[in-house]
Amino acid sequence: MPSVRRTLAMLVAAALCAGAPGCTPPREIVDPAHLRATVPGARALVVVYSRSGHTAAFAQGLARGLGADYQRLLGPGHEGDSLCTTPSWQSDVATVPATIDLAPYDLVVVGGPIWYWHPSAVAMSFLRHADLAGKAVVLFYTYEGGGMSDDTELEWRATVERRGGVVRDLVGVNRKELAPEADLGAEGERIAATRRARWQPSAAEARPTLDPDPARRQDRE
Ligand SMILES: Cc1cc2nc3c(=O)[nH]c(=O)nc-3n(C[C@H](O)[C@H](O)[C@H](O)COP(=O)(O)O)c2cc1C
Repeated sequence: MPSVRRTLAMLVAAALCAGAPGCTPPREIVDPAHLRATVPGARALVVVYSRSGHTAAFAQGLARGLGADYQRLLGPGHEGDSLCTTPSWQSDVATVPATIDLAPYDLVVVGGPIWYWHPSAVAMSFLRHADLAGKAVVLFYTYEGGGMSDDTELEWRATVERRGGVVRDLVGVNRKELAPEADLGAEGERIAATRRARWQPSAAEARPTLDPDPARRQDRE
């Protein structure tokens, strides 16, 4: 009986929406002044999507530790509200800003939260359209338990490689494993300080710095 089946399917979907992990947690209203921060002469950029602010706090710590520029991405607005409205990590969603000029940077650090065992659609959508040619890339995420499957990690790395980037590292922070008083920003700073040498592009990969002296610059050109 199709109508009975349909009713059952609706009941199952409703139960999933009501009981899914991470359903309707607080969404952070971001002050526009906190969406972007720049450091004069920065050669690294940290880009983050964060629904409720935890990954953003971690990303700000990474940016401080690296002396990097910081850009927070916004999504369409309802993502992550429930199992029913959370876009699949494979779908393309609009991001704000839609694109970022990555030309000034050698190192691009991109991350977001884990949603249903995958990176969030917003962070993935940014990566799928980013021009990462010749960039060193570090991926990062925060989560609360389940983490990510190995296949997903491979696909995440492959997305970067398809865009021309070289993945230097993948950093995951399980918030449940941090001490209750731990500060995600301080954790980001600590990780950046211990790994920054490994993340920087090697001398052979890095583009030459323009010599500020025009005469010497002409000699080299
Ligand atoms: C829709 C949704 C799905 C989630 N799925 C998972 C999951 O599969 N595994 C996990 O460990 N945490 C999951 N979480 C928890 C988040 O990954 C975790 O709270 C994260 O730190 C939130 O980051 P944010 O505050 O930057 O948005 C989910 C959260 C939401 C909102």
